[in-house]
Amino acid sequence: MRGIKILGAGTYMPDTVASNDWFSTILDTNDEWIYTRTGIRERRISTDKPNWYMASEASKAALADSGIDPSEIDLVLAATCSPDYFYPALSCIVQQQTGAVNAAAFDINSACTGFINALDTASRFLQDSDYRNILIVASERLAPHCDYTDRTASILFGDGAGAAVVTRSDKPMWSYLSAKGDFFNALYCKVDQSRANCPLLEPDALPEGIIDTEAKTHTLQMNGKAVYKFAVDAMETAVNKVLEKSGLTTGDIDLYIPHQANARIIESAVKGLKLPPEKVYVNLEKHGNTSSACIPTCLAELKADGRIKDGMTICLVGFGAGLTSGAIVFGQ
Ligand code: COA
Repeated sequence: MRGIKILGAGTYMPDTVASNDWFSTILDTNDEWIYTRTGIRERRISTDKPNWYMASEASKAALADSGIDPSEIDLVLAATCSPDYFYPALSCIVQQQTGAVNAAAFDINSACTGFINALDTASRFLQDSDYRNILIVASERLAPHCDYTDRTASILFGDGAGAAVVTRSDKPMWSYLSAKGDFFNALYCKVDQSRANCPLLEPDALPEGIIDTEAKTHTLQMNGKAVYKFAVDAMETAVNKVLEKSGLTTGDIDLYIPHQANARIIESAVKGLKLPPEKVYVNLEKHGNTSSACIPTCLAELKADGRIKDGMTICLVGFGAGLTSGAIVFGQ
Protein backbone atom coordinates (compact mmCIF):
# COMPACT_ATOMS: atom_id res chain seq x y z
CA MET A 1 0.00 0.00 0.00
CA ARG A 2 1.38 3.40 -1.00
CA GLY A 3 0.14 6.15 1.33
CA ILE A 4 1.40 9.40 2.75
CA LYS A 5 0.40 11.56 5.67
CA ILE A 6 1.31 15.21 5.98
CA LEU A 7 2.83 15.69 9.42
CA GLY A 8 3.67 19.36 9.00
CA ALA A 9 3.67 22.15 6.45
CA GLY A 10 5.28 25.57 6.22
CA THR A 11 5.76 28.48 3.87
CA TYR A 12 8.04 31.45 3.37
CA MET A 13 6.99 34.55 1.44
CA PRO A 14 9.37 37.44 0.74
CA ASP A 15 8.48 40.85 2.24
CA THR A 16 8.35 42.92 -0.94
CA VAL A 17 4.87 43.14 -2.50
CA ALA A 18 4.65 43.81 -6.24
CA SER A 19 1.05 44.94 -6.79
CA ASN A 20 -0.72 45.25 -10.12
CA ASP A 21 -0.50 49.02 -9.62
CA TRP A 22 3.31 48.71 -9.34
CA PHE A 23 3.35 46.87 -12.68
CA SER A 24 1.39 49.75 -14.21
CA THR A 25 4.33 52.04 -13.30
CA ILE A 26 6.80 49.96 -15.33
CA LEU A 27 4.60 48.50 -18.09
CA ASP A 28 1.62 49.43 -20.26
CA THR A 29 -0.85 47.54 -18.07
CA ASN A 30 -3.32 48.11 -15.23
CA ASP A 31 -4.94 46.41 -12.24
CA GLU A 32 -8.25 45.89 -14.04
CA TRP A 33 -6.66 44.02 -16.99
CA ILE A 34 -4.47 41.84 -14.80
CA TYR A 35 -7.17 41.02 -12.25
CA THR A 36 -9.91 40.19 -14.74
CA ARG A 37 -7.59 38.07 -16.95
CA THR A 38 -5.73 36.26 -14.13
CA GLY A 39 -7.34 36.79 -10.71
CA ILE A 40 -4.00 38.10 -9.41
CA ARG A 41 -3.80 41.36 -7.39
CA GLU A 42 -0.26 41.09 -6.04
CA ARG A 43 2.72 38.79 -5.76
CA ARG A 44 5.90 38.76 -3.65
CA ILE A 45 9.38 39.40 -5.04
CA SER A 46 12.51 38.30 -3.23
CA THR A 47 14.65 41.36 -3.72
CA ASP A 48 17.58 40.12 -1.64
CA LYS A 49 16.99 36.59 -0.37
CA PRO A 50 18.23 33.73 -2.56
CA ASN A 51 16.17 30.65 -3.31
CA TRP A 52 18.09 28.51 -0.77
CA TYR A 53 17.14 30.95 2.00
CA MET A 54 13.43 30.85 1.16
CA ALA A 55 13.52 27.05 0.82
CA SER A 56 15.28 26.66 4.17
CA GLU A 57 12.87 28.98 6.00
CA ALA A 58 9.82 27.14 4.63
CA SER A 59 11.45 23.83 5.56
CA LYS A 60 12.17 24.95 9.13
CA ALA A 61 8.53 26.03 9.46
CA ALA A 62 7.31 22.65 8.16
CA LEU A 63 9.65 20.79 10.53
CA ALA A 64 8.47 22.86 13.51
CA ASP A 65 4.84 22.19 12.54
CA SER A 66 5.50 18.45 12.25
CA GLY A 67 7.22 18.08 15.61
CA ILE A 68 9.80 15.86 13.88
CA ASP A 69 13.44 16.44 14.84
CA PRO A 70 15.51 17.30 11.74
CA SER A 71 17.82 14.35 12.50
CA GLU A 72 14.83 12.02 11.90
CA ILE A 73 14.44 13.14 8.27
CA ASP A 74 15.63 10.39 5.93
CA LEU A 75 15.37 12.27 2.64
CA VAL A 76 15.16 15.92 1.53
CA LEU A 77 13.53 16.41 -1.85
CA ALA A 78 13.62 19.91 -3.33
CA ALA A 79 11.50 20.88 -6.31
CA THR A 80 12.72 23.97 -8.13
CA CYS A 81 13.18 25.35 -11.62
CA SER A 82 15.02 28.46 -10.39
CA PRO A 83 17.97 27.24 -8.29
CA ASP A 84 20.79 29.53 -7.21
CA TYR A 85 23.39 26.96 -8.27
CA PHE A 86 23.59 24.28 -10.95
CA TYR A 87 25.18 22.27 -8.17
CA PRO A 88 25.03 21.40 -5.40
CA ALA A 89 21.35 20.51 -5.42
CA LEU A 90 19.13 22.98 -3.53
CA SER A 91 18.12 20.05 -1.28
CA CYS A 92 21.74 19.71 -0.06
CA ILE A 93 21.79 23.33 1.10
CA VAL A 94 18.40 22.85 2.77
CA GLN A 95 19.74 19.71 4.46
CA GLN A 96 22.63 21.73 5.91
CA GLN A 97 20.46 24.71 6.89
CA THR A 98 17.82 22.61 8.64
CA GLY A 99 20.19 20.19 10.38
CA ALA A 100 18.69 17.16 8.62
CA VAL A 101 22.07 15.49 9.12
CA ASN A 102 20.93 11.93 8.42
CA ALA A 103 19.06 12.66 5.20
CA ALA A 104 19.90 11.88 1.62
CA ALA A 105 19.08 14.77 -0.72
CA PHE A 106 18.31 15.40 -4.35
CA ASP A 107 16.32 17.83 -6.51
CA ILE A 108 13.45 17.43 -8.92
CA ASN A 109 12.77 19.87 -11.74
CA SER A 110 9.44 19.60 -13.46
CA ALA A 111 8.70 23.33 -13.16
CA CYS A 112 5.26 24.07 -11.73
CA THR A 113 4.44 20.34 -11.45
CA GLY A 114 7.47 19.90 -9.17
CA PHE A 115 5.66 19.37 -5.87
CA ILE A 116 3.32 16.76 -7.39
CA ASN A 117 6.27 14.82 -8.83
CA ALA A 118 8.22 15.16 -5.57
CA LEU A 119 5.30 13.93 -3.45
CA ASP A 120 4.80 10.99 -5.78
CA THR A 121 8.54 10.19 -5.53
CA ALA A 122 8.40 10.50 -1.73
CA SER A 123 5.51 8.04 -1.52
CA ARG A 124 7.56 5.48 -3.45
CA PHE A 125 10.59 5.95 -1.16
CA LEU A 126 8.32 5.54 1.86
CA GLN A 127 7.42 2.05 0.69
CA ASP A 128 11.05 1.17 1.51
CA SER A 129 11.55 0.53 5.24
CA ASP A 130 14.74 2.68 5.27
CA TYR A 131 12.68 5.83 4.76
CA ARG A 132 10.22 7.01 7.38
CA ASN A 133 10.14 10.82 7.25
CA ILE A 134 10.69 12.91 4.14
CA LEU A 135 10.99 16.68 3.86
CA ILE A 136 9.70 18.02 0.55
CA VAL A 137 10.36 21.65 -0.24
CA ALA A 138 9.30 23.53 -3.36
CA SER A 139 10.89 26.93 -3.73
CA GLU A 140 11.14 29.44 -6.56
CA ARG A 141 12.85 32.75 -7.06
CA LEU A 142 11.50 33.52 -10.51
CA ALA A 143 12.04 37.29 -10.58
CA PRO A 144 15.65 37.07 -11.88
CA HIS A 145 14.40 34.92 -14.78
CA CYS A 146 11.36 36.97 -15.81
CA ASP A 147 11.47 39.64 -18.52
CA TYR A 148 9.97 42.75 -16.93
CA THR A 149 9.48 44.33 -20.35
CA ASP A 150 7.07 41.49 -21.25
CA ARG A 151 3.64 42.46 -19.86
CA THR A 152 2.03 39.14 -20.79
CA ALA A 153 4.30 36.88 -18.73
CA SER A 154 5.98 38.91 -15.97
CA ILE A 155 2.69 39.87 -14.28
CA LEU A 156 1.85 36.21 -13.62
CA PHE A 157 4.74 35.13 -11.45
CA GLY A 158 5.83 35.58 -7.86
CA ASP A 159 8.54 34.23 -5.55
CA GLY A 160 8.02 32.01 -2.52
CA ALA A 161 8.52 28.62 -0.93
CA GLY A 162 6.38 25.89 0.58
CA ALA A 163 7.38 22.70 2.37
CA ALA A 164 5.85 19.59 3.87
CA VAL A 165 7.09 16.79 6.12
CA VAL A 166 5.49 13.51 5.10
CA THR A 167 5.48 10.00 6.50
CA ARG A 168 4.07 6.62 5.55
CA SER A 169 0.34 6.05 6.01
CA ASP A 170 -1.90 3.00 5.78
CA LYS A 171 -4.47 5.06 3.89
CA PRO A 172 -4.13 4.64 0.13
CA MET A 173 -2.89 7.19 -2.37
CA TRP A 174 -3.05 7.31 -6.16
CA SER A 175 -1.20 9.41 -8.67
CA TYR A 176 -1.25 10.22 -12.36
CA LEU A 177 1.79 11.92 -13.91
CA SER A 178 2.21 13.08 -17.49
CA ALA A 179 4.67 14.91 -19.76
CA LYS A 180 4.11 16.21 -23.28
CA GLY A 181 7.59 17.06 -24.53
CA ASP A 182 6.16 17.96 -27.94
CA PHE A 183 5.18 21.27 -26.32
CA PHE A 184 8.49 21.93 -24.53
CA ASN A 185 8.91 25.27 -26.30
CA ALA A 186 5.55 26.66 -25.07
CA LEU A 187 7.27 27.67 -21.81
CA TYR A 188 11.03 27.76 -21.38
CA CYS A 189 13.99 29.62 -19.97
CA LYS A 190 17.38 29.10 -21.60
CA VAL A 191 20.55 28.82 -19.51
CA ASP A 192 22.74 31.94 -19.56
CA GLN A 193 26.09 30.97 -21.08
CA SER A 194 27.13 34.52 -21.89
CA ARG A 195 30.10 34.35 -19.52
CA ALA A 196 31.52 31.15 -20.98
CA ASN A 197 35.08 31.73 -22.12
CA CYS A 198 36.25 28.41 -23.50
CA PRO A 199 37.87 29.38 -26.85
CA LEU A 200 36.57 26.16 -28.45
CA LEU A 201 32.88 26.88 -27.82
CA GLU A 202 30.55 27.59 -30.74
CA PRO A 203 27.00 28.99 -30.55
CA ASP A 204 24.58 26.45 -29.09
CA ALA A 205 22.61 24.19 -31.37
CA LEU A 206 19.00 25.00 -30.54
CA PRO A 207 16.07 22.61 -30.64
CA GLU A 208 13.43 23.66 -33.15
CA GLY A 209 11.13 26.34 -31.76
CA ILE A 210 13.59 27.83 -29.26
CA ILE A 211 14.32 31.50 -29.85
CA ASP A 212 17.75 32.73 -28.83
CA THR A 213 18.08 36.34 -29.84
CA GLU A 214 19.96 38.60 -27.46
CA ALA A 215 16.73 40.04 -26.03
CA LYS A 216 15.18 36.65 -25.38
CA THR A 217 18.12 34.69 -24.04
CA HIS A 218 17.83 33.30 -20.53
CA THR A 219 14.51 34.87 -19.52
CA LEU A 220 11.19 33.06 -19.29
CA GLN A 221 9.52 32.73 -22.72
CA MET A 222 5.88 31.72 -22.92
CA ASN A 223 3.16 31.11 -25.48
CA GLY A 224 0.36 32.17 -23.13
CA LYS A 225 -2.53 30.98 -25.28
CA ALA A 226 -0.99 27.53 -25.89
CA VAL A 227 -0.26 27.10 -22.18
CA TYR A 228 -3.76 28.23 -21.23
CA LYS A 229 -5.40 25.71 -23.54
CA PHE A 230 -3.08 22.92 -22.35
CA ALA A 231 -3.64 23.81 -18.69
CA VAL A 232 -7.44 23.51 -18.66
CA ASP A 233 -7.34 20.19 -20.51
CA ALA A 234 -4.40 18.88 -18.42
CA MET A 235 -6.13 19.63 -15.12
CA GLU A 236 -9.35 17.95 -16.19
CA THR A 237 -7.51 14.93 -17.60
CA ALA A 238 -5.26 14.52 -14.54
CA VAL A 239 -8.18 14.65 -12.10
CA ASN A 240 -10.26 12.24 -14.19
CA LYS A 241 -7.33 9.81 -14.56
CA VAL A 242 -6.42 9.77 -10.88
CA LEU A 243 -10.07 9.33 -9.86
CA GLU A 244 -10.41 6.50 -12.36
CA LYS A 245 -7.40 4.76 -10.76
CA SER A 246 -8.78 5.25 -7.26
CA GLY A 247 -12.33 4.21 -7.99
CA LEU A 248 -13.46 7.42 -6.26
CA THR A 249 -15.78 10.08 -7.69
CA THR A 250 -15.37 13.85 -7.61
CA GLY A 251 -17.87 13.93 -4.72
CA ASP A 252 -15.62 11.69 -2.55
CA ILE A 253 -12.91 14.37 -2.44
CA ASP A 254 -13.05 16.78 0.52
CA LEU A 255 -10.53 19.31 -0.76
CA TYR A 256 -8.99 20.16 -4.12
CA ILE A 257 -5.70 22.08 -4.26
CA PRO A 258 -4.91 23.12 -7.84
CA HIS A 259 -1.76 24.79 -9.16
CA GLN A 260 -2.33 28.55 -8.86
CA ALA A 261 -1.54 29.83 -12.37
CA ASN A 262 -4.65 31.76 -13.34
CA ALA A 263 -8.11 31.97 -11.74
CA ARG A 264 -9.73 31.59 -15.17
CA ILE A 265 -7.85 28.32 -15.79
CA ILE A 266 -9.00 26.98 -12.42
CA GLU A 267 -12.60 28.15 -13.01
CA SER A 268 -12.75 26.48 -16.44
CA ALA A 269 -11.40 23.19 -15.09
CA VAL A 270 -13.72 23.32 -12.06
CA LYS A 271 -16.66 23.88 -14.41
CA GLY A 272 -15.55 21.12 -16.79
CA LEU A 273 -15.12 18.65 -13.93
CA LYS A 274 -18.34 19.87 -12.20
CA LEU A 275 -16.50 20.35 -8.89
CA PRO A 276 -18.15 22.27 -6.04
CA PRO A 277 -16.16 25.56 -6.03
CA GLU A 278 -16.23 25.73 -2.21
CA LYS A 279 -14.02 22.60 -2.12
CA VAL A 280 -11.37 24.19 -4.36
CA TYR A 281 -8.71 26.26 -2.61
CA VAL A 282 -7.44 29.37 -4.41
CA ASN A 283 -4.88 31.83 -3.02
CA LEU A 284 -3.40 33.32 -6.18
CA GLU A 285 -4.89 36.77 -5.63
CA LYS A 286 -2.10 37.44 -3.11
CA HIS A 287 0.77 35.30 -4.37
CA GLY A 288 0.39 34.94 -8.15
CA ASN A 289 2.01 31.88 -9.68
CA THR A 290 4.96 30.76 -7.55
CA SER A 291 5.47 27.69 -9.76
CA SER A 292 6.23 24.52 -7.77
CA ALA A 293 5.73 26.43 -4.49
CA CYS A 294 2.00 27.06 -5.12
CA ILE A 295 0.60 23.75 -3.91
CA PRO A 296 2.69 23.37 -0.71
CA THR A 297 2.01 27.03 0.13
CA CYS A 298 -1.73 26.27 -0.10
CA LEU A 299 -1.20 23.19 2.08
CA ALA A 300 0.63 25.27 4.69
CA GLU A 301 -2.08 27.97 4.72
CA LEU A 302 -4.86 25.40 4.99
CA LYS A 303 -3.06 23.46 7.72
CA ALA A 304 -2.40 26.64 9.72
CA ASP A 305 -6.15 27.45 9.47
CA GLY A 306 -7.06 23.97 10.73
CA ARG A 307 -8.71 23.14 7.42
CA ILE A 308 -6.68 19.98 6.81
CA LYS A 309 -8.06 17.31 9.09
CA ASP A 310 -7.31 13.64 9.63
CA GLY A 311 -9.69 11.47 7.64
CA MET A 312 -9.94 13.90 4.73
CA THR A 313 -9.39 12.82 1.13
CA ILE A 314 -7.38 15.45 -0.71
CA CYS A 315 -6.68 15.93 -4.41
CA LEU A 316 -3.68 17.93 -5.63
CA VAL A 317 -3.49 18.82 -9.32
CA GLY A 318 -0.82 20.72 -11.22
CA PHE A 319 0.69 21.52 -14.60
CA GLY A 320 3.67 23.43 -15.90
CA ALA A 321 6.59 23.75 -18.27
CA GLY A 322 7.52 20.56 -20.05
CA LEU A 323 4.65 20.57 -20.60
CA THR A 324 4.05 18.43 -17.52
CA SER A 325 0.97 17.72 -15.44
CA GLY A 326 -0.22 15.42 -12.70
CA ALA A 327 -2.63 14.77 -9.87
CA ILE A 328 -2.45 12.97 -6.53
CA VAL A 329 -5.29 11.76 -4.33
CA PHE A 330 -4.42 10.76 -0.77
CA GLY A 331 -6.17 10.11 2.49
CA GLN A 332 -4.79 12.30 5.28
N1 COA B 1 -1.84 44.32 -19.63
C1 COA B 1 -2.57 44.85 -20.61
N2 COA B 1 -2.71 44.24 -21.80
C2 COA B 1 -2.07 43.06 -21.98
C3 COA B 1 -1.29 42.47 -20.97
C4 COA B 1 -1.19 43.15 -19.76
N3 COA B 1 -0.48 42.66 -18.72
N4 COA B 1 -0.79 41.31 -21.44
C5 COA B 1 -1.24 41.17 -22.68
N5 COA B 1 -2.01 42.24 -23.03
C6 COA B 1 -2.69 42.50 -24.29
C7 COA B 1 -2.07 41.80 -25.46
O1 COA B 1 -0.97 42.54 -25.95
C8 COA B 1 -3.22 41.72 -26.40
O2 COA B 1 -3.36 42.97 -27.02
P1 COA B 1 -3.72 43.06 -28.58
O3 COA B 1 -5.08 42.42 -28.68
O4 COA B 1 -3.71 44.52 -28.83
O5 COA B 1 -2.65 42.29 -29.28
C9 COA B 1 -4.45 41.54 -25.50
O6 COA B 1 -4.02 41.98 -24.19
C10 COA B 1 -4.93 40.12 -25.39
O7 COA B 1 -3.82 39.30 -25.17
P2 COA B 1 -3.95 37.76 -25.00
O8 COA B 1 -2.60 37.15 -24.99
O9 COA B 1 -4.97 37.28 -26.00
O10 COA B 1 -4.60 37.68 -23.56
P3 COA B 1 -5.19 36.44 -22.84
O11 COA B 1 -6.60 36.67 -22.52
O12 COA B 1 -4.83 35.15 -23.55
O13 COA B 1 -4.39 36.44 -21.47
C11 COA B 1 -2.58 35.36 -20.34
C12 COA B 1 -2.98 36.30 -21.46
C13 COA B 1 -1.07 35.21 -20.31
C14 COA B 1 -3.05 35.94 -19.02
C15 COA B 1 -3.24 33.97 -20.57
O14 COA B 1 -3.00 33.55 -21.89
C16 COA B 1 -2.73 32.93 -19.62
O15 COA B 1 -2.94 32.99 -18.43
N6 COA B 1 -2.06 31.86 -20.14
C17 COA B 1 -1.50 30.81 -19.30
C18 COA B 1 -0.18 31.24 -18.76
C19 COA B 1 0.27 30.41 -17.59
O16 COA B 1 -0.51 30.04 -16.76
N7 COA B 1 1.57 30.15 -17.51
C20 COA B 1 2.17 29.44 -16.44
C21 COA B 1 1.86 27.99 -16.53
S1 COA B 1 2.48 27.11 -15.17
